[in-house]
Amino acid sequence: MSQSLACVILAAGQGTRMKSSLAKVLHPVAGRPMVAHVVAACAAAEASQIAVVVAPGMGGVRVAVAPHACVVQERPLGTGDAAKAARKTLEGFNGDILILFGDTPLLTTASLAKMCARRAETGAAIVVSGFEPADPAAYGRLIVGKDGTLDAIVEFKEATPEQKAIRLCNGGMMLFDSACLWQLLDKIDNKNAKGEYYLTDAIALARAEGLKAVVASLDEEDLSGVNSKIELAAAEAVMQKRLRDAAMLAGVTMTDPSSVFLCADTELAPGVSIEPNVVFGPGVKVGANVAIKAFCHIEQATIEPGAQIGPFARLRPGAKIGEAAHIGNFVEIKKSVVEAGAKVNHLTYIGDARIGAKANIGAGTITCNYDGFTKAHTDIGAGAFIGSNTALVAPVKIGDGAIVGAGSTITKEVPADSLAVTRAKMSVIEGWAAAFRAKKQK
Ligand code: UD1
Ligand code: CA
Repeated sequence: MSQSLACVILAAGQGTRMKSSLAKVLHPVAGRPMVAHVVAACAAAEASQIAVVVAPGMGGVRVAVAPHACVVQERPLGTGDAAKAARKTLEGFNGDILILFGDTPLLTTASLAKMCARRAETGAAIVVSGFEPADPAAYGRLIVGKDGTLDAIVEFKEATPEQKAIRLCNGGMMLFDSACLWQLLDKIDNKNAKGEYYLTDAIALARAEGLKAVVASLDEEDLSGVNSKIELAAAEAVMQKRLRDAAMLAGVTMTDPSSVFLCADTELAPGVSIEPNVVFGPGVKVGANVAIKAFCHIEQATIEPGAQIGPFARLRPGAKIGEAAHIGNFVEIKKSVVEAGAKVNHLTYIGDARIGAKANIGAGTITCNYDGFTKAHTDIGAGAFIGSNTALVAPVKIGDGAIVGAGSTITKEVPADSLAVTRAKMSVIEGWAAAFRAKKQK
């Protein structure tokens, strides 16, 4: 796409219908704020500049869209006023300017490309995204003339009953020749039902100057906006379907894709297989031929090729699982490296630790990494064997090839190739149980 595209993303609205203290455009879809999806689509369309219009105090949006510029709309006076906020940043820019909304996370780069292609093929000064939603609801209606060009956009609140019957709606995205944009925005007034500056009024104003506007017909799915928690869940469902389909097309096997939840940044190599009911949080990378069994929860973790995870495993931030390692049921791993071929198969907590290559961690092992004040590290050497039900009180080190007897509480370093056991001496009194029962039953 042309290097001469700039994007202005409007995100200063309050989003009152979300009933949330979080700014609307920061609500995540597939683990990524909505506005960041829009920014990603613009960046993939090779926009040379991206400016996001925010309200005062929307610091979270700045973080979500960095390193792209944010400009401030002082008061929410309408979309026409919001677009003006980008003027200082873009005034010298003489390419095309795409204005779009931060609450449409499903926009694809392909849709953006269609907008640009439509302008190239028609030479129109303005291209407006049009769609025919199943329920046209309160969308602005597109008034198309006999010659097929766009005459005006009428906001729902201003529309006559005849105009409300029009099914072709404004999807929100508008592409402008920068030569006409700023002067058109200056002409928009707020004499309407909502007392707002409607960006959509730019079309009738352009027509009055003899400028041509056309519609680019796009998919409803791409343009659907999020204004409520119900619409947020609907957008999530669409995004999940897209991500699952993309993963499967790239060679990932999913037994029941509808129960696997991915993040926008989840990286799954070909040959990965995923059983039902697996949730990926942000920041997960999975190598080739990893098998993830049912009911796992994985976030900010890296899994090297050939490893086996689950069923019922939890990988928390900073978990690094080495090649062909095994993490079994009811095992939690946090900020730890499990090196190649190591096995942690049952009922275990590993936090702030290194598990050396091919070490075997018995059922019920706990790294006691927290004393109520600070976190401490546990280092387990290659080939070590930790017996079941062991507590490793950090900071502590187990040498390569050492064996820890089951039921031990380890508080001091265990040298390589040695045995450490801390359990109490076992005593046996023969016949005691039978005598005890006989006495009680009398
Ligand atoms: C808008 C369009 C409507 C279109 C619909 C598509 C206008 C006047 N109406 O209506 O024709 O069918 O989108 O989804 O443009 N915003 C600001 N500052 C403001 C007001 C809004 O930045 O002062 C931002 C919001 O954060 C939001 C976007 O602009 O991201 C759209 O605003 P919203 O109030 O949701 O517009 P709609 O009523 O949905
Ligand atoms: Ca909206």
